[in-house]
Amino acid sequence: MRHLLQQEAGNELPAAWCNSSATMTSLMEAVSFVTPLLENFFISTVASTLKGQVDFPLAQRCREFMHEEANHSRLHNKFNASVLEHLGKTPAALRWVQQLLTGSRKHLPLSARLLLVAVLEHITGILSKAYLATESQWQFHSAFAKQLFGWHAREELAHRAVAFDLCLSKGAFGGFTRALAMLGVLFVGSLYLLTAVPWILYRKTGRSLSRTLVLLARFIASAGARLHCMSILRQLFMFARPSYHPDQLVDLVHVGRADETK
Ligand SMILES: [Fe+2]
Ligand SMILES: [Fe+2]
Repeated sequence: MRHLLQQEAGNELPAAWCNSSATMTSLMEAVSFVTPLLENFFISTVASTLKGQVDFPLAQRCREFMHEEANHSRLHNKFNASVLEHLGKTPAALRWVQQLLTGSRKHLPLSARLLLVAVLEHITGILSKAYLATESQWQFHSAFAKQLFGWHAREELAHRAVAFDLCLSKGAFGGFTRALAMLGVLFVGSLYLLTAVPWILYRKTGRSLSRTLVLLARFIASAGARLHCMSILRQLFMFARPSYHPDQLVDLVHVGRADETK
């Protein structure tokens, strides 16, 4: 990822740079827009926790975690600037997410914020693993985006164990609370995507409502046939099991780390 920090994202980004699909591109752009906000929340929560007492090996893993998240944010901000050249402005839904995160910082205790970080990293780990399993099938018409999403997914694989261990070190949460936290995050995340993706797509289609609706309907029909919803939900709610630990679930970490050295 270091070499990407020196590169420009370029402003020659096609409207459908991911899989030649305007809808999938809109989804990836919505994810990229929200990423720096979330990562900022992760970094500040982990940094606040490190001010207290944390075991040395875990503290070291936390510092690597923060360093990687800071680099991800820098690169996504760079990429988002290039997306904005075409889009003009960011989706309004992004401001709601920012307000929610600011409210969490102000009103939630550190242990609850750590639980949110652990939930979000669990979801990111599942998505990253799924992406890497099908990476060769993805088509990017942007070399920067291809490297950014691939590298980000590889580094994310180890994050959920760091977030989970740190969360555990500051207090255990029962299965019900963990399930509730997962439901809350999924609700807000779905609301964000259901608002931001059509908004981005609408602008990509030259503000054509009918074209936007047709593209969305086609995308939902084709994705619905391929998505294994029950398997995804099962993986997501593994987080609520008393015996859950991310180390038992991630088996691609070493593949990712090996690639990094090439
Ligand atoms: Fe990240
Ligand atoms: Fe992460």
